[in-house]
Amino acid sequence: MKAEIVYLNGRFLPADQAQVSVFDRGFLFADSVYEVIPYYQGVGFRLQQHLDRLAYSLQAIRIPDRENWKAILDELVQRNGGGNLSVYLQVSRGNAGYRTHTYDDSMQPTVFACTSPIRDIYGEGAEQIKGYNVIVTADLRWHRCDIKSTGLLPNILVLQQARESGADEALLVRDGLLSEGTSSNLFMVRQGVIYTPKRSSEILGGTTRELILQLAAEEGIPYQEVDIRPEELANADEVWISSSTRGVIPVLTIDGQPVADGRKGPLWQRMFALFTRFQHRLMTGEA
Ligand code: PDD
Repeated sequence: MKAEIVYLNGRFLPADQAQVSVFDRGFLFADSVYEVIPYYQGVGFRLQQHLDRLAYSLQAIRIPDRENWKAILDELVQRNGGGNLSVYLQVSRGNAGYRTHTYDDSMQPTVFACTSPIRDIYGEGAEQIKGYNVIVTADLRWHRCDIKSTGLLPNILVLQQARESGADEALLVRDGLLSEGTSSNLFMVRQGVIYTPKRSSEILGGTTRELILQLAAEEGIPYQEVDIRPEELANADEVWISSSTRGVIPVLTIDGQPVADGRKGPLWQRMFALFTRFQHRLMTGEA
């Protein structure tokens, strides 16, 4: 098998030759931000939205933003054969040569990117989408979840808890309100209206979340960005989660209880079809 090509600090090289210092602040302190961007048939999906969010995260933690990200990522995808790939991009504050909590603005950021194969969910069709079983649990994260930081330990521990109880994802609750999933945004449908937690520093502004709301607006499907209490899920007609690599996924059970009849709902089917059409238009240059 051909070694995967990764990008590290200006160079494209085989993954097993890429090395980062043990003093890198990404390694020592999770002093770094990241993006996960799907490419279908070699073309970035919502690339500009991801790069806007990257700029926001970098600015929020004061890492200088000097790269031509699109050029780097497009080339990385091409060097890995194009096709359907998810790109992981991480930018850390860099390496001071020793361990110290403090930093100064002259540091050179460490930039790393790699790819991994993904399914073209929209090309496959709605029947192929497996609904999720989720649990509801406490949100243990910091209060700047709008920054896409690599400090993911609370997310990882809670996802592991979900996996060990046979679930696929965990929905997080803080101060009596649902925020999002460990790596996804949350939607609830009741009587034809889509509800989703409003944007704040408690959730990530998901690119897929934004696309769902955009498509809903275009189609005249009503939606509201509101506070959602976990008790409200019991009366939901549908619950969905969303993320870049998974798209929009129907939730079938919550803490072992079925959502409505426990099957993929009609509004989800419609939203999935809208996504499929949107992606097709993007690929054929119509959007
Ligand atoms: N996660 N909320 C959190 C906490 C996330 O980590 C993610 C994405 C999302 C959805 O954002 P988007 O629609 O832009 O992918 C929401 C990525 C996929 C990850 O961590 O792998």
